[in-house]
Amino acid sequence: MVLGVAGGIAAYKAAELLRRFTESGHDVTVVPTASALEFVGAPTWAALSGKEIATGVFENITEVPHVRIGQQADLVVVAPATANTLARAAHGLADDLLSNVLLTARCPVVFAPAMHTEMWEHPATQANVATLRERGNIVIEPAEGRLTGKDTGKGRLPEPAEIFELSRAVLVHGGRTDLVGRHVVVSAGGTREYLDPVRYLGNRSSGLQGYAIARAAAARGAEVTLVAANVTLPDPAGLKVVRVGTTAELRDAVVSAAAGADAVVMAAAPADFRPTGVSEAKIKKAADGSAPTIELMQNPDILAEISHHRTKPGQIVVGFAAETGDETGSVLDLAAAKLKRKGCDLLVVNDVSGGAVFGSEVNKAVILGADGGHVDVQEGAKSALAEVIWDQIVLRMDEQPTN
Ligand code: CTP
Repeated sequence: MVLGVAGGIAAYKAAELLRRFTESGHDVTVVPTASALEFVGAPTWAALSGKEIATGVFENITEVPHVRIGQQADLVVVAPATANTLARAAHGLADDLLSNVLLTARCPVVFAPAMHTEMWEHPATQANVATLRERGNIVIEPAEGRLTGKDTGKGRLPEPAEIFELSRAVLVHGGRTDLVGRHVVVSAGGTREYLDPVRYLGNRSSGLQGYAIARAAAARGAEVTLVAANVTLPDPAGLKVVRVGTTAELRDAVVSAAAGADAVVMAAAPADFRPTGVSEAKIKKAADGSAPTIELMQNPDILAEISHHRTKPGQIVVGFAAETGDETGSVLDLAAAKLKRKGCDLLVVNDVSGGAVFGSEVNKAVILGADGGHVDVQEGAKSALAEVIWDQIVLRMDEQPTN
């Protein structure tokens, strides 16, 4: 693969990204621009990649690097991508090695922009980003936060670990960009219902599966809103992350993000019940040794609400079900009934009879469709299940127009 590094202060973060790529076995050719070398020198890139570094088209001329490097790549990641590099890529300029590589590459290309907020928001940059996305490139949204100086805003390079995960997802599905132009919403994690300022009722959902689904969508080109309930994982690269605590907050965030969305995937585990009241003061132990009685009320069913009030024709709604089967029916019987009751298009069913999937890196599932579809997904990484879920969603989206 090729790691293109453009001239921004975030170039130092690309060194960590490079390390992650090489340590996971990738053969990486680093192509820094001349201004990138003002920030991080060639010896750093050479030492970390194990290869000599070229920046000009007239070096190692017998190997025709300006054509060969791009042609041979399976993936090109440009991180950081500056406003200038995005502009040159969008307009097809070929005035240094990196821009030549971008013109000759026929593999997936990921741009991770980093620049000041004003530069990112400028209509020229936004038009260049739109052009690159239309051509099937993945341009991830910059993160928000502290910029180079004392200012904060949108424009930070996402964390290297997250650019790495997204790049891996792009490689897994061969660079399909079948979600470009789509807005999707994914919920993840487990909600907490407070009894008093320090205690809550909660569940063991880690958010790993929902995060994998959100990452996979971003890697396929979607604009993704991830609604995360009490998840401790770092924000995935290029997504809008909305953090919530309770089921009521999750409901409001999902309903608002789902307005006009092409797909909503409810991977979160909302608490079905909440205490009828939250004590403002910490509940104290009674002197007589008695325990308090907690009265609960039912929470709204977000999946059913979203399914029954679609805000866009053809919006695809996906639910999850963890089932064990009981005397009233098998796992699949109960799941089929739930699919009907909730009114969603797809239900991802985990058989949890043999133990929980919570916190695990792997998952296996059956995906049931309201249209009679039935897909068995063998045990594998949660990222692999995420790809199959999007395959199933895209199949059903295909009849629908993009925005
Ligand atoms: N869900 C939801 N709102 C709730 C509870 C669940 O949107 N208040 C969603 C979950 O995100 C998941 C799906 O519904 O996608 C299945 O959740 P589950 O708890 O299994 O469904 P229940 O209706 O609570 O059924 P059960 O009686 O089996 O608990």
